[in-house]
Amino acid sequence: MTTFETIRTRLAAIDQAHLLNFYSTLDADAQAALLAQIDSLPLGDIPALIEGYVKHKPAFVLPKGVAPAPYYPHAPASKLRPWDKAAAHLHGEKLIRAGQVAAFVVAGGQGSRLGYEGPKGCYPAGAVTGKPLFELFAENILGVHDRYNVWTPWYIMTSPLNHEATKSFFESHNFFGLPNDLVRFFPQGVMPSLDIKTGKVLLSSKSEVATNPDGHGGCIRALHHSGALAEMQSRGIKHLSYFQVDNPTVRVIDPVFIGLHAGAADSSAEMSSKMVPKVAPEEKVGVFCHAGGKTQVLEYSDLPMDLQRERTPDGAIKFIAGSIAIHVLGVEFVHRLATDKAFSLPYHRAEKKIPCVDPASGSPITPTENNGVKLEKFVFDALELCKASIVLETDRVEEFAPIKNASGSDSPESSRKLQTLRAARWLEACGTQVPRDAQGQPDCTLEISPRTATSPEELRHAKLPKSIERGSKVAL
Ligand code: UD1
Repeated sequence: MTTFETIRTRLAAIDQAHLLNFYSTLDADAQAALLAQIDSLPLGDIPALIEGYVKHKPAFVLPKGVAPAPYYPHAPASKLRPWDKAAAHLHGEKLIRAGQVAAFVVAGGQGSRLGYEGPKGCYPAGAVTGKPLFELFAENILGVHDRYNVWTPWYIMTSPLNHEATKSFFESHNFFGLPNDLVRFFPQGVMPSLDIKTGKVLLSSKSEVATNPDGHGGCIRALHHSGALAEMQSRGIKHLSYFQVDNPTVRVIDPVFIGLHAGAADSSAEMSSKMVPKVAPEEKVGVFCHAGGKTQVLEYSDLPMDLQRERTPDGAIKFIAGSIAIHVLGVEFVHRLATDKAFSLPYHRAEKKIPCVDPASGSPITPTENNGVKLEKFVFDALELCKASIVLETDRVEEFAPIKNASGSDSPESSRKLQTLRAARWLEACGTQVPRDAQGQPDCTLEISPRTATSPEELRHAKLPKSIERGSKVAL
């Protein structure tokens, strides 16, 4: 049988023969590309996925005995759970100096909410300078080199949809001053996008199947398949500092968090997480919970609202630990999962508007309501597979100023304000006067490069102005 016949037979067996409806109208290159694309998809899994995620919505089962996850409080002297921050810091620094730590950003998402064309990491995020997100992360790594005299490798997960664009962005910016061989790009996998009513795989054009990146949980397999994991092991890297591409104030390499992850008595050093206290029960973030002896994240859309609204006797939100999607992953842990044939993370279903073509006529369809289902895996579902996993509380202003939406919360404007607020705090802690308005908010725009400092302690070593002028824009 020719490849065409083989693929046609395989598609017919799973009721997806429409994917070849326009095959005969394509030129030879497009025909070959379409067959290769179809061949690369997990065709055998599709019928079960349609049954389990499109025709029926998977029912959420609340884990038995679910309770809030315990966490290390931001203030180490807190009566809640005292811990030795200085010891964690020293331990983390030792691991960084020994070259056992790498940075890892998941940047394969489509960033559709922001409405920005191109990889999200190219988005101008610096409050004053408009430096792209990728540049801010690079400056973190340059800062680590300045402080510890060690180059920290940086792994960047892209998707087939933005891989080339991401690489050329770095090339055209000369890798933002990082040695080229320090940065490694690898693409995650994709899943076919499915028609919301019938489960039929959508065509994005006559010659292409509509696909979507398989979720940040796809990183476990992608790290392995791409050879990145083997490279890390040969470099002696033991811990991956994991973060999302949308957060310009993330501490790309945080010695305290890394030290706690690797050294705390109740950590298996497999996967650890940072959290911020939720500001309101309705805040749309995943929540760290504990059930059956395991830490897990329950998405806000799954955790029943009455539980989200529960309060402790002193009036605090009971399920308080909001996920900011910052983790440390043990390289051994990733290797154990990725090489286990039985390993798989669950899929999550998202309903989306997916531009496609009519499978009968080939006419383009621009949907005005959700017409498709995307299936994604979430990395935090791996928490349940850890022997023991810890959560560290952090301060929202210190390291969570994400850019997700074009306006409102988690927007470029809210991020600029948070970047400014954090810089104001640090400058004031170092004795610089910062103008504030009647509401106590900084009356200026500030940006501190992560190369200059990633904490007020580091900022003390920089040359600082005595005061900031009202209304001014200052980048340090
Ligand atoms: C995510 C978390 C949420 C958390 C919030 C904090 C999920 C499902 N939810 O929400 O619990 O409170 O961040 O900011 O993750 N990505 C890939 N490949 C993909 C999909 C996404 O690399 O296939 C990357 C994106 O590039 C981005 C990150 O994952 O860096 C987050 O993706 P996004 O879908 O925007 O998650 P949120 O809804 O913001």
